[in-house]
Amino acid sequence: MKTYGECIKEANEKGIAIGHFNISNLETLHAIYNAAKKLQVPIIIGLTENESEFFGRTEAVAVIRALRSRDNYPIFLNGDHHYSLEAAKTSIDAGYDSVVIDLVKLPFEENIRITKECVDYARQVAKKEKREILVEAELGFIGTGSKILDKLPDGVSEATMTTPEDAKRFVAATGVDLLAPSIGNVHGMVKSGNPRLHPERVKAIRAATGIPLVLHGGSGSMSEDFIACIKEGIDIVHINTEIRVAFTEALKKSLTNLPEEITPYKYLPPTVEAVQTVVEARLKLFSGMK
Ligand code: 13P
Repeated sequence: MKTYGECIKEANEKGIAIGHFNISNLETLHAIYNAAKKLQVPIIIGLTENESEFFGRTEAVAVIRALRSRDNYPIFLNGDHHYSLEAAKTSIDAGYDSVVIDLVKLPFEENIRITKECVDYARQVAKKEKREILVEAELGFIGTGSKILDKLPDGVSEATMTTPEDAKRFVAATGVDLLAPSIGNVHGMVKSGNPRLHPERVKAIRAATGIPLVLHGGSGSMSEDFIACIKEGIDIVHINTEIRVAFTEALKKSLTNLPEEITPYKYLPPTVEAVQTVVEARLKLFSGMK
């Protein structure tokens, strides 16, 4: 089985991207894993700090490791959007395969300093436990929260996109494995439509940093924008809001259709089906399948 790093390298060589989908429960995990196995593509399961608290870090690590070894399948666990070094360390210690340290709200130099500490810590643990741990950082504000938005959040604009110069300095100073830049993307789905992505900025940042880039805030973006950004150097795409919408709408409908039903395994299957449909479509797009 290929390692996490090898899967990312292979995606880059093939000009495709790996899908990263967030979960808060097992139904969603089943749906995502079913979709990945059906299409035979590697998959990354993400839990933010809040999602990790709800699901349980130990539980998340146990389930992902069990699936990976039972099926000899490239499924990896990412600690998505950790807003402090302490939180990132907690997920690294719990056994996550990667963490996203998101300190974009801090001044640039402080972001560099703490991100570097996180990288150093991950390297130590990786060496001690003889396992791969990747560290990703965010650079450039793209909003917070995977939800339906009335308007573009303040502070997200073309003017605040990550510059290749900042990205180069940041990556050289921190040694991160992966970088999530701001290239027109935004977390959540804007009611009037998400902004367009900027593949030319992806290309410039990739050339400046030489490391794999991650596209956050994938929900609601246009297919042609995804394809163009993947071609220019995006190796992983994050989707969360679309999963939440699919799950919640299917659950509401199922409960309405079965008002007397109290057995979760009878009213929850439509949620698995709905999420799987969304994930399959996204994975096909990211993998260049028809
Ligand atoms: P969306 O909710 O916009 O898909 O963003 C998800 C994400 O980037 C999680 O890290």
